[in-house]
Amino acid sequence: MIHVTAAESDAIRVIEAEEISTRFARGWHCLGLSDGFKDGKPHTINAFGQKLVVFQGEDGKINVLDAYCRHMGGDLSQGTVKGNELACPFHDWRWGGDGRCKQIPYSRRVPLRARTAAWQTADQDGMLFVWNDPEGNPPPPEVMVPKIPGATRDDWTDWVWNKTVVHTNVREVIDNVVDMAHFFYIHHSFPTFFKNVFEGHVATQVMNGKSRPDTARPASSNAPVLTGNSSVASYYGPSFMIDDLTYHYEGFDLESVLINCHYPIDENSFVLMSGIIAQRSDKLPGDAADQMAKTMSKFILSGFDQDVEIWKHKARIDNPLLCEEDGPVYQLRRWYEQFYVDVADIDPEMTARFEHELDTTRPVESWQREVEENIARREKAASS
Ligand code: FES
Ligand SMILES: [Fe+2]
Repeated sequence: MIHVTAAESDAIRVIEAEEISTRFARGWHCLGLSDGFKDGKPHTINAFGQKLVVFQGEDGKINVLDAYCRHMGGDLSQGTVKGNELACPFHDWRWGGDGRCKQIPYSRRVPLRARTAAWQTADQDGMLFVWNDPEGNPPPPEVMVPKIPGATRDDWTDWVWNKTVVHTNVREVIDNVVDMAHFFYIHHSFPTFFKNVFEGHVATQVMNGKSRPDTARPASSNAPVLTGNSSVASYYGPSFMIDDLTYHYEGFDLESVLINCHYPIDENSFVLMSGIIAQRSDKLPGDAADQMAKTMSKFILSGFDQDVEIWKHKARIDNPLLCEEDGPVYQLRRWYEQFYVDVADIDPEMTARFEHELDTTRPVESWQREVEENIARREKAASS
């Protein structure tokens, strides 16, 4: 039994929030579908508190450099790709993907220190990734984002991809990993099982849910009836989540992979992206699967909007006040902290295996009641 003195229980809880650090997470970050960067032109990306330039050289490799030329500060994203190098628009210095100046056409020699910041890239499953590390170390191979088989298979659709800018700190999106209750109140879904596992650089959320007849949009008469969903969603590192998401319909299952990823623009904004692929089947042949992926993408986007609406108005809070049916917010944030400290300072607690299954008995009872009340209210309104 916990003893709370009168003075303690009477004290007003104070919201604490430390100043947000301008250090950005170490890890692989997806910048979007790689095809969008393969037009032979430089592209501006604002990320990690800086302006970056992304360009594909003639050799096919996609490169990411700091956008500002070390000569006189020209904006390389206004420059021109020449061979495998990016030519600055100001005096034509040629920068290679490794960050070194390769030639200055009007000069005999390239200065020794002509080196700018370059980010390691990976082009995988149709997506472009950059490795960000404030310490400047190369990525350990074991933290590479795993391959997604459906992304390159013909029996799956192509990516349906979306990007939106969100004006808050990225921690808000991470908190969702453990926040079961918001799925009911904000996203109008109905979780019935909820479990988290954190280990190493991976944080997983396992969630099963049933459909909500009180909030489901009126389906067309020939639309399949959705009965529930099962989702296993893992962040691989600080920003890239792969969600193996199965929708259960009467008579068949729809297999899909949802990507939920982001990169920070600065400490107060980030680019939030979603990607969806769905598996074709005899229930969902050809165009039907593509159509379904588009519909799901719209649904995911409306989910993002619901989160954003909350984030826009909420306070940042370092000391959330939790009840028993809330997920392990503190443990999740401890896991997340590993990406913001030097590798040498990673506490074993940040990466140790942690498992937590929520007891959903009480939430399910309460939500079931709420759903029934909503339906009764709706029916009453319709009959009067
Ligand atoms: S500023 Fe880039 S070449 Fe001079
Ligand atoms: Fe959410």
